[in-house]
Amino acid sequence: VDSDGNHMVVKYANGYPFPSFEKLKDNLDEFKNWTPKPQDVFLFAYPSSGTHWLWEVTCMLIEGKAERLQLEKEHYMIENSSSKTLDNLKEPRVLNAHVYIEQVPECLLENNKIILISRNPKDTAVSWYNHNVADLETDYTGKFPAFYELFRVGNVPNGDWFNYNKTWWEWSKGRSNVLWVTYEDAKSDLKSVTKQIAKFLEIPASDELCQAIAQECTFKKMKAEKHNLLPFELRGDMSFYRKGQVGDWKNWFTVAQNEDFDQIWDEKMKDCDLPVQFTI
Ligand code: A3P
Repeated sequence: VDSDGNHMVVKYANGYPFPSFEKLKDNLDEFKNWTPKPQDVFLFAYPSSGTHWLWEVTCMLIEGKAERLQLEKEHYMIENSSSKTLDNLKEPRVLNAHVYIEQVPECLLENNKIILISRNPKDTAVSWYNHNVADLETDYTGKFPAFYELFRVGNVPNGDWFNYNKTWWEWSKGRSNVLWVTYEDAKSDLKSVTKQIAKFLEIPASDELCQAIAQECTFKKMKAEKHNLLPFELRGDMSFYRKGQVGDWKNWFTVAQNEDFDQIWDEKMKDCDLPVQFTI
């Protein structure tokens, strides 16, 4: 419940609040005991960080074609899928989730290639707010100031941005099976990020292919073509391709909120060197 009395429907798994997907807890419990194939690639991110954007880029690289995918995107999101569903997906699989590190099987953390994505928390807050308002299952009708009060203390679906990103960041250091990508870098130069992902996955992608994928995955194109929307996204008002910009937070945060958040930032990030850009 926010400070204006608006409710948000969440589900809990391993003590963390999550959006109210059907069978979410069962799916995540099954996932913890699931064994991936060595070639499976994983994208993990706090929601609203560009997960599905970079999921498409990665899938296109693996397919070797800059073409709109005809995959059932919802099944590639771990929170949505049982182990059986995951097992039935065509290989090699690119799976994504907004899970915490302790919800991921040990063998996956050790052996599989993992792409971690982060986005600056101010834009993430705005995007996650708009997503929650548009997502009919969350049933949230609050205004941004009330959502902000919850976000700043991590009391929203998927929990605390700082905890999520800092934990993954510290774990990822020095690991050769992890690539960290930021939303802001992808926005500045998607072709370079596409190349980086190709190199990390040891895919011999040509310069032309990376260029073509970057062109196919611009915000404008993906929004216009409604790339791979999930059923609830089709029902909502397309929060999934909302604005796609860095720095939109300036249109939402008041001066006081911004000062408040900067203070929280200084405190929580003083011992963390995670690279974060609030503008580009
Ligand atoms: P905004 O709400 O700021 O527009 P996720 O997939 O992790 O939930 O992230 C959703 C965010 O990524 C949304 O941000 C969405 O618009 C943005 N996004 C999706 N496709 C994009 C693209 N091709 N380019 C830039 N941003 C994109």
